[in-house]
Formats: sequence, C-alpha cells, structure tokens
Amino acid sequence: MRILTGIQPSGTPHLGNYFGAMKQVCALQEKGESFLFIADYHALTTNSDPKQLRERVVNLALDFIACGVDLEKTVFFRQSAVPEVCELQWILNTVTPVGLLERAHSYKDKIAKGFAPNNGLFSYPVLMAADILLYGANLVPVGKDQKQHLEITRDVAIKFNNQYGEILTIPEGFIPDEVAIVPGTDGQKMSKSYGNTIAIFGAEKEIKKTVMNIVTDCKGLEEPKDPDSCNVFAIYKLFATPEEIRTMRENYLGGNYGYGHAKKALFEKIWTHFEPMRKRRAELAADLGYVESVLAKNGERARAEAEKMLKRVREAVGLR
Ligand code: ADP
Ligand code: TRP
Repeated sequence: MRILTGIQPSGTPHLGNYFGAMKQVCALQEKGESFLFIADYHALTTNSDPKQLRERVVNLALDFIACGVDLEKTVFFRQSAVPEVCELQWILNTVTPVGLLERAHSYKDKIAKGFAPNNGLFSYPVLMAADILLYGANLVPVGKDQKQHLEITRDVAIKFNNQYGEILTIPEGFIPDEVAIVPGTDGQKMSKSYGNTIAIFGAEKEIKKTVMNIVTDCKGLEEPKDPDSCNVFAIYKLFATPEEIRTMRENYLGGNYGYGHAKKALFEKIWTHFEPMRKRRAELAADLGYVESVLAKNGERARAEAEKMLKRVREAVGLR
C-alpha cells in the first residue's frame, strides 16, 4: 500500500499541527510505503515572497524530521523537485469540469478572505490531484478541510480512466475521526489565523508566557473548578498519562488548586515532551547541508517513480 500526503509550508508549527498532522504522518510510516512532500508549488498561490518561501520550506523539513519522519521509510521531498507534476496537472485539466472547481470551498474561502482570484488558486485541486495520482497513492491522510479536494481527485481520476483506460489508481482519503481538534489559548480551534497558537518549537519564555495567558474563568484559588470546560485541562490531556489526568481532575474538583498551578503543570509537560525533538531540530539546523542532501536524494527517488506514471499517461492520451 502506498501512502502519500503533502503539507503546505505555512509557518511556525503549533500544537494543533503536531497532534492533528505531524504525529499522524509519523504513525502511518509503519503501515506502508510513505511519500511525504512539502507543497511548495501550492504555496505559491498564497505566498509571493521568495525569501520567505525558501525559509519556510527548510523550516518545515526541519520540523518534520525532528518530530520523527523516518528518512529510511519515508520518501520526503519538495513537490517542485518533480516538475512532472505540472505536466500531469495540465493533462488532468483537460478532463476536469470547471463546475467541479467552482464548487470548491477552499477556493471560495480564499476569495472571501481577499486573495485575488488567480488561476493558481482556482486550479489548486487539480495540482493536488496530480500530486496524488502521479505516485499511484492508495491512501491519502489529510485533515477534514481537505476532504473535498480528495473527492475532486477521485472524480478527476475516474473521468480520466473512463476516457483513456484504467491507468490511474483511485485513492482513498484517510481522515481519522479520533484526532480531536486541539483548542487554542482562547478555546476556539487552535489556528494561525486566530492568533491563539502554542508553538511547539518556541523559546522557553515564549511558551511559558503563552501558556500562562490561556483563557480560563475567574474562579478563585480555593474554589472547586470544572476540568471539562477548561482549556488548560483540555490541552494537558493531550500530554498526560491516564493517571496524571485523573490526579489533575481531582485537583480541579477538590478546590485549593489554582489555574496558575494547572498552567505550570501544563507548561512542564509541553516543554519536556518536545525536549528531544528540540535537540534534534537544533542539530539539524546546524547541518543544513545534510537536510538539503536528504531532500534532493528523495526528490530523485520520487521523480523516478513519477516518470514511470507520466510515461503511461502520455502514451494513453496520445502524446507519444
Ligand atoms: P492553521 O489552521 O494553523 O493554518 P493548517 O490549516 O496549516 O493550520 O493545518 C495543517 C494541518 O494541521 C492540517 O492537517 C490540519 O488538519 C492540522 N491542524 C491544524 N490545526 C489543528 C487543530 N487545532 N487541531 C487538530 N489539527 C489541526
Ligand atoms: N492542500 C493540502 C493542504 O493544504 C496540501 C497538499 C497538496 C496535499 N497536495 C497534496 C495533501 C496531496 C495531500 C495530498 O493541506
């Protein structure tokens, strides 16, 4: 089974990205042959600063390797290392109904947010379909927000196969329900766009400050508190053992346990959880040549795979 996913280089990773995406990707490495790429072509649709794009791509590579992407098991590469994906996108464009793209929520959302409606944004899902179909992926782990893009991928692949023969593998999405939405410091979904994130690789002082600022109700120290409506407790649960969760629950219910205490305990958990990853990331950051060489080598592997599929597609449509 071939598992494939792409991630946009969209900035500093936070706890939501870690639990909702990074950890999932690392767990799936055990289940089959994994392809993971940094979607830098896609990033061009919303990022027009070349320096920023370059930095974000490298940072994302460091983040994922530090968090446990296994370079023996996973082909980890830059999307743009395989320009063949753009040729496949073009071919897929010719079987993609415009109406399918007009219905895409993410396109409508971006336009509503004020992005100029360029053709890159519009045909974003076709490039994503090409990403998936080029490598014959069977399983595509993504967040809920990408569900519609996967449906478009399947529709486009079916249309292509109906027209030209059974060439493309129809992929399945893998959208785990059990990945709870990590709440941010204000209780809404943690997201860069809400400014309520806790960065996983932030400096000690910064993380502490953010944790101490998590919004709670204003119950006094001695009053009993409700763990189930508390953001601090909700985030603590992601890190703690069942035993520790029970103890924290009792502390809340028993009174004489302040939010300050809970926040301190949470900070300690976050800081120690990411300690080994922080160290690994610092080592990698001091050896960017190694990171570049890994990405380049993996890019070549991915490209060799892609060329095989593209050859079949070209033949099927009559380009050779
Ligand atoms: P952001 O909302 O901060 O811009 P992205 O949209 O870039 O985050 O999300 C990247 C990945 O992280 C996606 O797979 C998404 O499902 C996951 N993710 C983001 N925020 C959360 C969250 N609060 N809880 C769980 N998963 C999340
Ligand atoms: N669109 C995805 C996102 O924003 C990233 C992505 C690009 C992707 N190509 C992909 C995900 C192919 C899975 C498969 O999260």
